[in-house]
Amino acid sequence: MSETYRFPDAFRWGCATSAYQIEGSPLADGAGPSIWERFVHTPGMMHNGDTGDVACDHYRRFRDDVRLMRELGLTSYRFSIAWGRILPQGTGRINQQGLDFYRSLIDALLEHGIVPMATLFHWDLPEALDDRGGWLNRDVADWFAEYAGVCFDALDDRVPLWVTLNEPWVVTDGGYLHGAVAPGHRSPYETVIASHNLMRAHGAAVQAYRARGQHEIGLVVNLEPKYAASDSAADREATRRADAYMNRQYLDPAMKGHYPEEMPRIFGDAWREWPATDLEQICQPLDFLGINYYTRGLTRQDPDAWPLYASTVRQSQSTYTETGWEVFEQGLTDILVWVRERYGDIPLYVTENGAAFYDPPTVNTGGVQDPLRIDYLGRHLRAIHHAISSGVDVRGYYLWSLLDNLEWSLGFSKRFGIVHVDYATQERTPKDSARFYSNVIASHGEALTAGAGKTPEPQRADPS
Ligand code: BGC
Repeated sequence: MSETYRFPDAFRWGCATSAYQIEGSPLADGAGPSIWERFVHTPGMMHNGDTGDVACDHYRRFRDDVRLMRELGLTSYRFSIAWGRILPQGTGRINQQGLDFYRSLIDALLEHGIVPMATLFHWDLPEALDDRGGWLNRDVADWFAEYAGVCFDALDDRVPLWVTLNEPWVVTDGGYLHGAVAPGHRSPYETVIASHNLMRAHGAAVQAYRARGQHEIGLVVNLEPKYAASDSAADREATRRADAYMNRQYLDPAMKGHYPEEMPRIFGDAWREWPATDLEQICQPLDFLGINYYTRGLTRQDPDAWPLYASTVRQSQSTYTETGWEVFEQGLTDILVWVRERYGDIPLYVTENGAAFYDPPTVNTGGVQDPLRIDYLGRHLRAIHHAISSGVDVRGYYLWSLLDNLEWSLGFSKRFGIVHVDYATQERTPKDSARFYSNVIASHGEALTAGAGKTPEPQRADPS
């Protein structure tokens, strides 16, 4: 059956970025350092010793970047606010120059008819707060609500879409369990506490927004549907644990007011039972959920993979991106359908989706041909359309990412952008995928009808 991929007229077409990955000038105009400032300048933590000192120099070039967004036809843009630019010590004194930067960025977006979506926390916790325990200190919920309130007071008149946290799972799995991202700790005991405090902070920020905000606020999670690699009881049980750990650990408390029943088994004596009042604070009504989707997890039991005892199986016939993630667009349809079935009919945005692939150099060609990225985007956009056709209320898509940027501890070695950045000159060159995306936007998705890639059939993620 052929399908026409026309998206709703009000569908928002965007790109996503985050402050530390693109801005550069992290200490400019009175900003306080973040834990990423400390992490990147600690020898051995970053690929190739890369840092965000300059990154894409977006802090100084944002007007050109916004013009570029307009040229591409974006109707929305998801960016993050660096906490330390607003409150250099994390709490207390407000740095007006930091607010002015984001106000200018937002004004430039609005002048070009681009709807801003602002994320309050995309991993760059102020160093001063980390020195007070960071996400391990229960007071962090109040600190975050204070910072969020400053942003709401200054910018809510211009920002219709707010996000509290980006991907609490990565903050805790990467930052507190495996140490691959800042602050680089490795403790299951800390992981449990950091996760809980992140969610308390999320709830406190939503409460602060309800007291004064005029628009919409939501949470962004990264979801990976987990499918059992075999029918064996061990693999199915491992799949349930993996799903609880990555997908339900954050959404269940935020949307249902309790943690998944698997959590004590996953964390053993590191797990804690939390007061009911904490869960009441975490479970606040939200206006939307943001789903970041990159890949699925084909899961098997693995006695060596502490603490989950589950790992992901590679598929010999699949395509893998440069970050080692299987291209599996059907997982996006499945996870959108799953969110609706499990958490109800809340508006959804796909707040990140994209791929790092090797892009040939631009020298002498004047452009960048990136057919694998075009294929990836086409497949995933069709997968979203399929979910919409199945009744899921998806309101927009934010491609990761507008620009090649600092891929956290992998530095500049992985390029996710639809716009190539020459880091020596800061020259921006739209890749073929940027033109592809522009055509999709201009045609409300109809350009997808003719393109390559198969249409996924909805299928339930296994087993929850
Ligand atoms: C994050 C981005 C990151 C992207 C690709 C997401 O986990 O929100 O900051 O660059 O995935 O790894």
